[in-house]
Amino acid sequence: MRLSTLRVTCLSVAALSMFGSFIGNAQTDGLASRPPMGWNSWNHFHRNVDDAAVRAQADAMVSSGMRDAGYVYVNIDDTWQGERDAQGNIQANSRFPDMKALADYVHSKGLKIGIYSSPGALTCAKFAGSLGHEVQDARTYAAWGMDYLKYDLCGLREQMKVAATPEEAHKIMFDAYIKMRDALKATGRPIVYSLCQYGNDAVWRWGTEVGGNLWRTTGDISDKYSSMEAIGFSQAGLAKFAGPGHWNDPDMLEVGNGGMNADEYRTHMSLWAILAAPLLAGNDLSTMTAETKAMLTNRDVIAVDQDAAGKQGDRAWVEGPLEIWVRQLADGSKAVGVFNRHPSALTATVDFKALGFTRAVKARDIWQGKDMGTISAPYTARIPGHGVLFLKVSQ
Ligand code: GLA
Repeated sequence: MRLSTLRVTCLSVAALSMFGSFIGNAQTDGLASRPPMGWNSWNHFHRNVDDAAVRAQADAMVSSGMRDAGYVYVNIDDTWQGERDAQGNIQANSRFPDMKALADYVHSKGLKIGIYSSPGALTCAKFAGSLGHEVQDARTYAAWGMDYLKYDLCGLREQMKVAATPEEAHKIMFDAYIKMRDALKATGRPIVYSLCQYGNDAVWRWGTEVGGNLWRTTGDISDKYSSMEAIGFSQAGLAKFAGPGHWNDPDMLEVGNGGMNADEYRTHMSLWAILAAPLLAGNDLSTMTAETKAMLTNRDVIAVDQDAAGKQGDRAWVEGPLEIWVRQLADGSKAVGVFNRHPSALTATVDFKALGFTRAVKARDIWQGKDMGTISAPYTARIPGHGVLFLKVSQ
């Protein structure tokens, strides 16, 4: 494979700082001041999640060091729902004998717990949704002690189908998200509100208006490089819509689920950190390997993701399969991801001057965990196929 050379143009850096001027224009309710970190049941357990599995994840989140690294939310996705009682109150199914006790258990570990529903009559997995029961369901979640709700459009598409125009369909969805926002607010319990409608109708433009603390920007991720790559690299241009309390969500992590190699999972983590994405692990934390644990708990990666300035990064340069993405950090340094989307190794040369640095830089190789000292000339490195060179660069 012929080697390629990579240089960053001043033009793309100028475009990047222009995006920065949009940041901070949205309201926040004090929740999700940093991108939420935690775990979600769907990617690994799908329909097989139950009380024991959730407890095991909470235990493992603590024993693995993930809690201490910043992971907080233990989120139950679809398929927990049972029948409504005579008064219409939603009950969990037999796999969750006592939701309140489960929430208490998770809280006792110093963690928070999340739940899932749909504004439609049915969820994606065809379990009971919240349509017509929004206020009641929000009260139930609060009474159980829930701290996070993922609200997944799915079944509402039945209602949207009868709309005469796309505008009418949009209004049905918009109003449904507002209804649950108000219902959650009325409980008085702080509950992170996660919108899931796959990025339709440019949700990043109106997600804050309906109270979203985060919103999915794409369809579902799967545990394949092609899926993660298509989602992650499609996020260019969305940085200006994210900030403290309101984040773009390119979907949950697949790290550790087995469908990608270590270089690909490092790309996944690095890109999500540059994107200020929620870090919701989607693997079985109770059986993960040391390598998976090390990736999920890498302190430098998490520090980029959770950076106090809350500025999402963006693509700064592209040459064929080689891309540089840059995120401005609060301390004046930048996270720089040099990605190789080609399946074989390529050589990239990074010109730090073109990235906005005026003199020699100090760089840290995040995945190697090594300070690289002072670099005064363009830096050339071999990037593995589907891999990344992830740097923290300062002057
Ligand atoms: C949708 C969502 C997924 C997951 C499933 C559950 O597909 O996008 O993240 O919640 O529903 O049914």
